[in-house]
Amino acid sequence: MSLIPLASILPPEVSVWELTDGTEPDPLYPEEELLVACAVPKRRREFASSRTCARRALARIGIGSFPILSASSRAPIWPSGVVGSITHCDSYTAAAVCSDNQFRSIGIDAEVNHPLPDGTADLIASPGERAPLKELLDPAICWDRLLFSAKESIFKAWSPLSTGWLDFLQAEVTLDPLRLTFSAKLLIDSPATGEFLEGRFQVSRNRILTAVTIQLK
Ligand SMILES: CC(C)(COP(=O)(O)OP(=O)(O)OC[C@H]1O[C@@H](n2cnc3c(N)ncnc32)[C@H](O)[C@@H]1OP(=O)(O)O)[C@@H](O)C(=O)NCCC(=O)NCCS
Repeated sequence: MSLIPLASILPPEVSVWELTDGTEPDPLYPEEELLVACAVPKRRREFASSRTCARRALARIGIGSFPILSASSRAPIWPSGVVGSITHCDSYTAAAVCSDNQFRSIGIDAEVNHPLPDGTADLIASPGERAPLKELLDPAICWDRLLFSAKESIFKAWSPLSTGWLDFLQAEVTLDPLRLTFSAKLLIDSPATGEFLEGRFQVSRNRILTAVTIQLK
């Protein structure tokens, strides 16, 4: 399988930057350094890579460089008028951003294409979501991990527009393996996002990528 870019599962208005395999991140701003001052080196590097991706993605839509801090929810704090999302997984990091005139929110997630640890699928998916996975025969794709990633993307898109918490079992996800899309029905009241969210996925080499964009009202 060839490596498919994240941009292929996002609308063209969304600016994406990806870092792979050992690319050295740019230095952090002092304010950003404070957020990871006590973190282990792996987390510091991951955080620096995410800020590098975010700044380069923002530059592509004409927004200059400045610190990208984190909210108490851990969501990145984007410049005014921007929505976006960040993911990291192994040696891969990505950021996706666009103007809030184009989308209300973005969620992206990357996972390694390995089966979830034993017992985890039962915690993140209902029997009704798990049953169709047995029919999906492509052995190259870990469908349980894909479902997990779809839910992480949903959470990252949902969270900045909402208060409170969205549990894994509060979104019922249906994968469409022919269209490489998924849809989610939220099982909680979510006036800010509406009841249904849509996303796209790709699996390339050993990586699963999922993305959700929430349309303007
Ligand atoms: C927030 C969460 C989705 C992040 O997942 P993760 O495994 O750490 O995955 P990633 O590495 O892909 O993403 C990390 C990035 O997510 C972003 N993020 C963290 N919390 C966030 C939130 N509340 N909203 C939006 N983005 C968030 C951050 O940018 C973070 O990177 P950074 O700390 O370097 O800035 C996960 O930790 C979590 O809490 N999941 C439980 C909630 C959930 O997924 N529910 C399912 C609903 S169907």
